[in-house]
Amino acid sequence: MRIRPAETGDAGGISDVLEQLVAAGLRSNASDKAFVLSHYIADPHRIACTVAEDGSGRILGLQSLKRATEDNPYGVEPGWGIIGTHVSPQAARRGIGSRLFAASREAAIAAGLRKIDATIGADNPLGLAYYEAMGFRTYRRTDSAICKCYELP
Ligand SMILES: CC(C)(COP(=O)(O)OP(=O)(O)OC[C@H]1O[C@@H](n2cnc3c(N)ncnc32)[C@H](O)[C@@H]1OP(=O)(O)O)[C@@H](O)C(=O)NCCC(=O)NCCS
Repeated sequence: MRIRPAETGDAGGISDVLEQLVAAGLRSNASDKAFVLSHYIADPHRIACTVAEDGSGRILGLQSLKRATEDNPYGVEPGWGIIGTHVSPQAARRGIGSRLFAASREAAIAAGLRKIDATIGADNPLGLAYYEAMGFRTYRRTDSAICKCYELP
């Protein structure tokens, strides 16, 4: 397995991972290639967009790290990072999420971030457990989500 920055040509493989999550009942948002390009790979506020791929080049997971702007739709403090993680259900619990976060954390430090927000559905126990295991801690709640913060050194 290889961890590397996402490229434009990864849009199809990332979309496949998101579709697998939809099929498993773990995602309800858009998952098409155009969404992947605009929200992850080519997002103008991208700090890092990192993929995990297997030996045959198949994408197994994605982690997106963006800088929160004044008008970010998540209500995150401007200047913080905003993180999102998506690992294929066929490759879950093999350490991919952990390796993706190691790469994002390095990118966050290089970008001078001090804090990263992870907004997780309150009904998503595995997402909550994953971010807690990565060192994120709950700092606010909305009607439907729990927001966790990671503090960088
Ligand atoms: C949450 C998610 C990113 C975890 O990815 P992963 O590659 O399976 O994570 P890892 O294998 O690196 O697990 C790291 C740690 O997270 C925790 N964890 C991960 N999956 C878990 C689960 N299903 N139940 C409990 N804890 C879990 C564990 O502490 C785990 O360490 P351990 O395996 O040594 O016990 C992945 O399941 C996923 O994409 N889920 C759907 C989308 C989602 O919920 N994204 C995050 C919220 S927006």
